[in-house]
Amino acid sequence: ATNVGILAMDIYFPPTCIPQEVLEAHDGASKGKYTIGLGQDCMGFCTEVEDVISMSLTVVASLLEKYNVDPKQIGRLEVGSETVLDKSKSIKTFLMQIFEKCGNTDIEGVDSTNACYGGTAALFNCVNWVESSSWDGRYGLVVCTDSAVYAEGPARPTGGAGAVAMLVGPDAPIAFESKLRGSHMAHAYDFYKPNLASEYPVVDGKLSQTCYLMALDSCYKQLCHKYEKLEGKQFSLSDAEYFVFHSPYNKLVQKSFARLLYNDFLRKASSVDEAAREKLTSFSALSLDESYQSRDLEKVSQQLAKPLYDSKVQPTTLIPKQVGNMYTASLYAALASVLHNKHTSLAGQRVILFSYGSGSTATMFSLRLQEGQHPFSLSNITNVMNVAGKLKSRHEIIPEKFVEIMKVMEHRYGNKDFVTSKDTSLLAPGTYYLTEVDSMYRRFYAKK
Ligand code: ACO
Repeated sequence: ATNVGILAMDIYFPPTCIPQEVLEAHDGASKGKYTIGLGQDCMGFCTEVEDVISMSLTVVASLLEKYNVDPKQIGRLEVGSETVLDKSKSIKTFLMQIFEKCGNTDIEGVDSTNACYGGTAALFNCVNWVESSSWDGRYGLVVCTDSAVYAEGPARPTGGAGAVAMLVGPDAPIAFESKLRGSHMAHAYDFYKPNLASEYPVVDGKLSQTCYLMALDSCYKQLCHKYEKLEGKQFSLSDAEYFVFHSPYNKLVQKSFARLLYNDFLRKASSVDEAAREKLTSFSALSLDESYQSRDLEKVSQQLAKPLYDSKVQPTTLIPKQVGNMYTASLYAALASVLHNKHTSLAGQRVILFSYGSGSTATMFSLRLQEGQHPFSLSNITNVMNVAGKLKSRHEIIPEKFVEIMKVMEHRYGNKDFVTSKDTSLLAPGTYYLTEVDSMYRRFYAKK
């Protein structure tokens, strides 16, 4: 199989959200802290009727229906998630309800978990399968699904929720340049979930930012090195049209792109012009550790990167800014954003993605885009995802209600013997929702 990659995509996020400006005022944070400081516009969240399983059911059913894919045509189904509802039974097995009904139980794959990286691991598994000798000619299907919720405090506004489904196969409009990949895997305690009774992570916010940037540097170096070996010339920011980042909050994405510019400067890449080189010269003697701590470097490189950021990154930020961190789905929501914003001009372009999962695992990889053929075309993917429509039809929830919902969810997490609210009026038709968790902890879902 050649040009293996993403044939089709769909995205789902809850219809319930809270504007960051409102949350900011409610939390007593200084004005602009969440919107400018973190760079976020709005945060989506699940109410008691939705969870990572219902969102994954919704997005898979929607993808199969809208692209007219027969469930029998799926030969591998992989899920990436870090929201654990069961320590043994995978989310994938819940999704099998859709496929069993059509008589297809011959589907490989289970769940992949490591913070926000599981979706990328799942995607690589599917791409590798299609490229391998065990491929049977059917499609792979990848689902990234997460609900990011934090305890009250500075991390709470960096929550979010959503699910992305991607159909994988040959001759894809979004094809992998499989040789262009760099990974960085290390042991870190930056963000982890050791308390199995709570959905909330233990997080060292500052450390997590540094770990993210260290992994970014390392992956970029690897990717540049591989590119140079393959192409016999240097790689720089000018060799890709868009840079798509895992987006815990937008400010970190701004810092990350600036960091790539600093890398290009240190590598003496031709993409860095004379004026920028002059402004960065005073930082060239910093040790690596010092460079992560330097606020001046952060500011100067962000200023220098701003024009390139506006063209190469800003179009990828729409959904992550509007919905928040969707953990495993975050990177692919950013990819969906650039498709939404630029689908008419993407043919022939290269897009670089950076996936980061705390703990820590990270990969930077490259995709090559072409228009493709209906239904697996960039324009149809954009139509199906209907990002603008989905964003517009959301409902803003007042902060008092949001806090109340978080309290209910805290209590419900890991619990049994409850039925959920009968009020599903905010959900769009076709949305799956949780109805009951019985005395044996079995979860039941219905479709609206
Ligand atoms: N107006 C404008 N900007 C402001 C204002 C204001 N009124 N007040 C603060 N800011 C700025 C700060 O200067 C800072 O920006 P800077 O870094 O560019 O200087 C930013 O807002 C954040 O403020 P801080 O006080 O530095 O940070 P805070 O203690 O609020 O915590 C953090 C932020 C660490 C991101 C926290 O939300 C967190 O822990 N989130 C979860 C961890 C996370 O997402 N890590 C990312 C990688 S791991 C993963 O993906 C889960």
